[in-house]
Amino acid sequence: MPIIEVSGLAKDFRSGGAVVHALRDVTFSVDEGRFVTLVGPSGCGKSTLLAIMAGLTSATRGEARIEGTPITAPMPDKIGMVFQDPTLLPWKTALANVEFPLALRHVDATARRKRCTQLLDLVGLSEFADHYPHELSGGMRQRVAIARGLAQDPRLILMDEPFAALDEQIRTRMGHDLLEIWERTGKTIFFITHSLTEAIYLSDTVLVMSARPGSIIGTLPIDFPRPRDLDIIGSESFGRIRNRIWHLISEPQK
Ligand SMILES: Nc1ncnc2c1ncn2[C@@H]1O[C@H](COP(=O)(O)OP(=O)(O)OP(=O)(O)O)[C@@H](O)[C@H]1O
Ligand SMILES: [Mg+2]
Repeated sequence: MPIIEVSGLAKDFRSGGAVVHALRDVTFSVDEGRFVTLVGPSGCGKSTLLAIMAGLTSATRGEARIEGTPITAPMPDKIGMVFQDPTLLPWKTALANVEFPLALRHVDATARRKRCTQLLDLVGLSEFADHYPHELSGGMRQRVAIARGLAQDPRLILMDEPFAALDEQIRTRMGHDLLEIWERTGKTIFFITHSLTEAIYLSDTVLVMSARPGSIIGTLPIDFPRPRDLDIIGSESFGRIRNRIWHLISEPQK
């Protein structure tokens, strides 16, 4: 059952006299509960697509729907977001940052505290609830952002290169932990990354986008059994999938 359906989506930007065709005829769907990753060359339109799916910007043509409803504005109770930059409020503690979206919606303080304390626990940060962002490492700040993305219990989480600023060891760990959170919460995750290894390791499906104007040129099912072990990364079948994606991304489109 698809939770997200994107059909015939195009986006043109006009800046000055010039028109940039960022997306062209993007069509795909994501089934409920799946972990789907989007990869593609820099500047191909991935973040633009995510912004449309988040209701932050409008499409020039086509549409994105969640559970059949066109996405025309942010829907925080249905769609959560986590970006590369965790954008925490520096004057608020980790817990208060996670609570922030609920506070904005006037959710009862006791209920909100309880829920957000559980979320900090889920991302492994219960001991850091009272710490301020500058007292946390980059990986910890990103965990706070993930907990905040889960605060309103959305069915879908959109993630735009959430681990790009982290070193490889922490990044691998965060990916592994994200899979655990995903398995425990049953959310649908739509994830953008530049790392093909990360994409394959995490996902049920990898979508490949062409160079600008971006369109989907490959949909690769990833069938490694779960829970996954990091050892699969060195396997021959993993390498074959990575090569296939690499060729799709690198070869000029007709
Ligand atoms: N607000 C905007 N106004 C004008 N052009 C824009 C705007 N946002 C994005 N673009 C252009 O649209 C194209 C796609 O940008 P986008 O950020 O979606 O790419 P991306 O695939 O996320 O790249 P990266 O992998 O580097 O993050 C680029 O050419 C970019 O310059
Ligand atoms: Mg981007």
